[in-house]
Amino acid sequence: MRIILVGFGVVGQNLVKLLLSRADDIYARYGMKPRIVATLDSRGAVICPSGLNLHRLLEVKRLYGTVAAYDRYEGQGEYTDSKQTMEVSNNRIEEIVRSVDAEVLVEATPTNLNDGEPGLSNVITAIKHGKNIITVNKGPLALAMPSLLELAEYNGVILRFSGTVGGGTPILEFAKHCLKGDRILSFKGILNGTTNYILSMMEEKGLTFDEALNDARIKGYAEADPSLDIDGLDAAAKLAIMANWIMDLKVTIRDVRCKGIRDVNLNDILEAKRHGKVIKLIASCDESRSLSVEPMLIDKGEPLCVNGTLNAVTFKSEYSGELTIIGKGAGGMETASAILRDLIEVREAMSIV
Ligand code: HSE
Repeated sequence: MRIILVGFGVVGQNLVKLLLSRADDIYARYGMKPRIVATLDSRGAVICPSGLNLHRLLEVKRLYGTVAAYDRYEGQGEYTDSKQTMEVSNNRIEEIVRSVDAEVLVEATPTNLNDGEPGLSNVITAIKHGKNIITVNKGPLALAMPSLLELAEYNGVILRFSGTVGGGTPILEFAKHCLKGDRILSFKGILNGTTNYILSMMEEKGLTFDEALNDARIKGYAEADPSLDIDGLDAAAKLAIMANWIMDLKVTIRDVRCKGIRDVNLNDILEAKRHGKVIKLIASCDESRSLSVEPMLIDKGEPLCVNGTLNAVTFKSEYSGELTIIGKGAGGMETASAILRDLIEVREAMSIV
């Protein structure tokens, strides 16, 4: 299976590490040989139709900060793979998508919730050129999921996005596949690891909001622009994706009533604690299909009450009652594992090696 990987940041690099460490197993269990035939970062691109050397790709990125330096780096004479590199800007992605044979484009550029770019154009370009898409970028889906799903269907390509919600935790698959035949009436959950970490640190260690945020940034949990986390927009984006996929709604992030945690202070948290409660940033889709993200008081004993960077979602279903799925909601390797799940699904749908 040939892959064009767009975006070579933390998630893109972890995907490469995962493919390296699991290559034999992936082939033995799924009969799949993933090859990255082109990759792009913000400074350039490298193309190799027979498959890039993944060790070399990681080393080049580490040493030079861009994959465009691929052919400059020979290691100690150990790399003899054929190469063909080119400098590209985002508007030349179309050239690569059109000219490079590949079954899948993996979109892993940073999330932009204002206009979705460059991810939105990348996804549309790939669909129009008949490439299946796996995106971990929330921007395009948060802003245009109904039309992207329609466009993908019209062009006969598969669009998958497991890593956009829950990191490596299969929240979307759980709701979509494990509850087949049942009907989800509503759901609510913690969809943002950074804010959950901040609220947990305030409650457990008595940190102020700013101290906890700083800690979350140092540990690398927050978005490049942490206001996306704090103001609830990241959770709202994930909620919109879930509402489209699980509840068949046709909504965007603009349909979500959203309030973040900026106004939550240590006193509020300690007061809640005295009453056996905690404050959590809860994203919910209620039975009337109304979508909201806001800080809420919940009982300490509720299954939803998870701490640190964990995410948790409780689904209320017609026949099985309430079910809660909990797992790590962020992280480079966790999100890369979601891409691998999607790759296997695309492979199964296409029956190619
Ligand atoms: N900043 C996000 C979070 C990353 O904290 O949940 C994963 O989407």
